[in-house]
This record gives sequence, structure tokens and C-alpha cells, in this order.
Amino acid sequence: MDFDFLQMEPMDRYRLLTNFVGPRPIALVTTRAAAGDDNGAPMSFFNVFSHDPAIVVLGIQPRADGREKDTVTNIRRTGEFVVNMVDMALSRTMLVCGLGVESDVDELALAGEAVSPCTQIDASWIPASPCAMECRVERLIEYPKRMLVLGEVVHMHVRRDCLDAAGRYVDPNTYQPIARLHADNYIVSDQQFVLKAPALSDVLSGGGN
Ligand SMILES: Cc1cc2nc3c(=O)[nH]c(=O)nc-3n(C[C@H](O)[C@H](O)[C@H](O)COP(=O)(O)O)c2cc1C
Repeated sequence: MDFDFLQMEPMDRYRLLTNFVGPRPIALVTTRAAAGDDNGAPMSFFNVFSHDPAIVVLGIQPRADGREKDTVTNIRRTGEFVVNMVDMALSRTMLVCGLGVESDVDELALAGEAVSPCTQIDASWIPASPCAMECRVERLIEYPKRMLVLGEVVHMHVRRDCLDAAGRYVDPNTYQPIARLHADNYIVSDQQFVLKAPALSDVLSGGGN
């Protein structure tokens, strides 16, 4: 089947894009509300796009009633946010934070999730998260129905058991993030395998399978 995206309703584009662009990593984004409380919201329109500078991007749409999400309001005001990566142990907190609660509700408290003050920004991070990145807004790109938040990672907290003994590389036996597929479907990275590229000379000579 073919789909002309320029002729389609936005929700149909959303369905196809989220159904086929996946698995998408999940950022459990924590921000500081104006009243001082913590705010948490999962975002799967998320990825890293650069290491120099270290840039992550979030795509945040308005609430169903058209109002701005608290994450956007907080990021506009503070210019800061945290990306907490999500594994199975954090999945319930992620889902609770995704519920559409009012702005004065601290979703992390609602989920019973412990937080710690950040090192370089005024927000909280989640110590149970395998990896949390403190970010400062690099730029905001506004579309009528979506805000793209480009953030520079200024600090990373990594759970010690997620790294090898030398503290350099990830330990794939302990760091097993979950990612979003379509709708309520997710996948966990617990079946990792090594895929080695064949030698170019073998490919050129017709082998190298
Ligand atoms: C796994 C998951 C991924 C989500 N990804 C996004 C996303 O990328 N962008 C978005 O606008 N909303 C996304 N949502 C919905 C928001 O998390 C939800 O609207 C949340 O209540 C917003 O909270 P806030 O108003 O505190 O910012 C996602 C929800 C879940 C459960």
C-alpha cells in the first residue's frame, strides 16, 4: 500500500509513523514546576542526534484539549530538563507519569518514585533509572502541533551496575532499556546479539555471508 502523506489527516500520519518507526527509546523527562514540585512525563519522540555538542531531541505535542503539556511549560520557563532512561523496573512509574493529571500534581510522588536533586541544573533525576541526563535547552523549534526541544546534555548519572568494571562500556546484562512500538506495545532489550560486518574483500568477491 502507498500513502500520500501530503493528502492525509494528521492522525493517520501519526498512526503510520508511530506504528513503523520503532522501537523508539523512551525518555522519562523530569522538570521543575513553577511551584517547585517535580514533574515527570515519558516521551518516545526522543533520541540522541549529536555528541559534539551532545544533543538530544524531544517531540512534544499539546494535550488532547489543546493546552500545552506541563513539560513544555516548565522547559520554556527553566530552560532545563532531565532525560531518565527507562527499564522494566521503571515501567510502572513511566506509565503513571504518562497519565493526564493536572499541573499541580507531582507525577513522581504519585508513582512513589524517589528522586534526587540534579548536579548542574535545577531539577530532579531518578536514581533508579539506569542513566539520567541533565540537559539545558539548546533551542526550541515550534510547530503549531509539536514542540521540538533540542537539549544539550551537561551531566550524566549512570547506575554503577550498568557499566563494566572499568566504568567505560555498558553492561548489556544489566542495562536493558524498554522501547515503545505501536500503541501500548513495548519491547525490552533482553535478546541482544553481536552482528559483525563481513570483510569488504569477501563481499566484493561474492562471499561474506
Ligand atoms: C511511553 C509513552 C511515550 C510518550 N511519548 C510522548 C511523546 O513523545 N510526546 C508527547 O507529547 N507525549 C508523549 N506521551 C504522552 C505524555 O507522556 C503525557 O501526555 C503526559 O501526561 C504529559 O505530561 P505533562 O503534562 O506533565 O508534560 C507518551 C506517553 C507514554 C506512556
